[in-house]
Amino acid sequence: MTRLSRRGFLALAGGVAATGLVGCGMEQGTGELVRSAAPLPAPFRVPLPIPPVRRPGPGGLVEITQRVAEVEILPGLRTPIFGYDGIFPGPTIETRQGQPVLVRHRNELPVPTVVHLHGGHTPAEHDGWPTDLLLPAGEDATAGAHHGQVWTGTREHAYPMNQRAATLWYHDHRMDFTGPQVYRGLAGFHLIRDAEEDALGLPSGDRELPLMITDRAFDADGSLRYPSLDHTLHQVPGVERDWVEGVLGDVILVNGAPWPVADVDAARYRLRLLNASAARRYELALAPGGEFVQIGSDGGLLAAPVRHTTLGMAPGERFDVVVDFAAYPVGSEVTLTNRLGRDATAQVMRLRVVHRPARDDSTVPVRLSTVEPLQPGPVRREWRFTRGRVGNHRGWTVNGLPFDPARVDARPRLGEVELWRFVTDLHHPVHVHLDPFQILSRRGREPGPSDAGWKDTVDLRPVEVVEVAVRFTDHRGRFLMHCHNLEHEDMAMMATFETV
Ligand code: C2O
Ligand code: CU
Ligand code: CU
Repeated sequence: MTRLSRRGFLALAGGVAATGLVGCGMEQGTGELVRSAAPLPAPFRVPLPIPPVRRPGPGGLVEITQRVAEVEILPGLRTPIFGYDGIFPGPTIETRQGQPVLVRHRNELPVPTVVHLHGGHTPAEHDGWPTDLLLPAGEDATAGAHHGQVWTGTREHAYPMNQRAATLWYHDHRMDFTGPQVYRGLAGFHLIRDAEEDALGLPSGDRELPLMITDRAFDADGSLRYPSLDHTLHQVPGVERDWVEGVLGDVILVNGAPWPVADVDAARYRLRLLNASAARRYELALAPGGEFVQIGSDGGLLAAPVRHTTLGMAPGERFDVVVDFAAYPVGSEVTLTNRLGRDATAQVMRLRVVHRPARDDSTVPVRLSTVEPLQPGPVRREWRFTRGRVGNHRGWTVNGLPFDPARVDARPRLGEVELWRFVTDLHHPVHVHLDPFQILSRRGREPGPSDAGWKDTVDLRPVEVVEVAVRFTDHRGRFLMHCHNLEHEDMAMMATFETV
């Protein structure tokens, strides 16, 4: 099985101009809208769900069963999902820095899976290489040629958690099928806490809300509508997939609920925002006004808070923000909006300030942490994320090549700071595994307002150049860097670096 035939790399009918870039502004992102056949629910009726928290037991063990479940997402309809423990989002795994965790996954789904901990400083063999498949329990592991490792039924991922407090997330990463499998529900939060963060006095407990933002489309019977021919175990040769640009849904979900509503006290809240959408970018804002005080990024605390009135978020990115609801009169309805959306997708969720000015002991210190600036050494690498031509076919490429799990594209040395330059043709959120990076420049200028701190995913707009400083440590082996538009990723926009 060669890479290209498995992928069914598309012969594209036209160039960029002929494809379905939604909206007229390129700022909106790359993707094509899938419309729901089910009637869309009225916004701000469904209560915001908070995923259950799982803390490691003896030996650091967390056990998760991946299974099919039917859940109510749209009121009155049943939606079959693939869920970690049968829920979407999966349980929030809550861990401490320096306390290793062993996550044992059991696959009771009808398809192979691969779990990746996004943002994890994880040894290569536990990182979730896309061809290291966990086959469904009972599946014959010897069937078919395959060039990754194979487990049947269960496998364990050992995470050292040797990294600072941050909002991580785990999601499926199976070769060619990350888009459909995450779409069906395989995504959850994984939080790391540490003493430094605990000492700050940030809002906590009920005033700390993880918010996973995704978009989906639904069929009339409530099932998820994803324009892919797969959910079978075996590949269909020569299948042509469309939706090359990426899949956008017309229903915005937060923690798996459509345009939910939550009651909040007139007090500060910590919102851990995650864009877990396949291709949709958001520009979040608060209506009738207000600001996000950003305290953290993908890789944990910023050095100092950064205030934003709008917050752009590409797929894979996290923003840790504090919003002070005491700034609104009690009884206010505060809507989290999306300035890149239209009609229903211009809204995300609502927060109702229902309680009397409540006791609030939380603070947002002016100094949060120390972020040591990385100084790049002599090694520079360029990574071009473009639509490319490969033989007679065209598809998404990195440096002109589609992903090949057998090829190594770079060999960075552990401990050395390198300068990586990302270049794009269209919107591509670039994600690097193993270690976070610092953004040095955007289009040859200062980084943007939301580029501060340690990032592992960076939003690149069309024809943009972003330079970052990156340093890999501790773990030798093969890791991925790729576009986090999941359809681009599935259509080969990935590369491999091997730390040496
Ligand atoms: Cu969030 Cu390589 O992935
Ligand atoms: Cu990752
Ligand atoms: Cu991309």
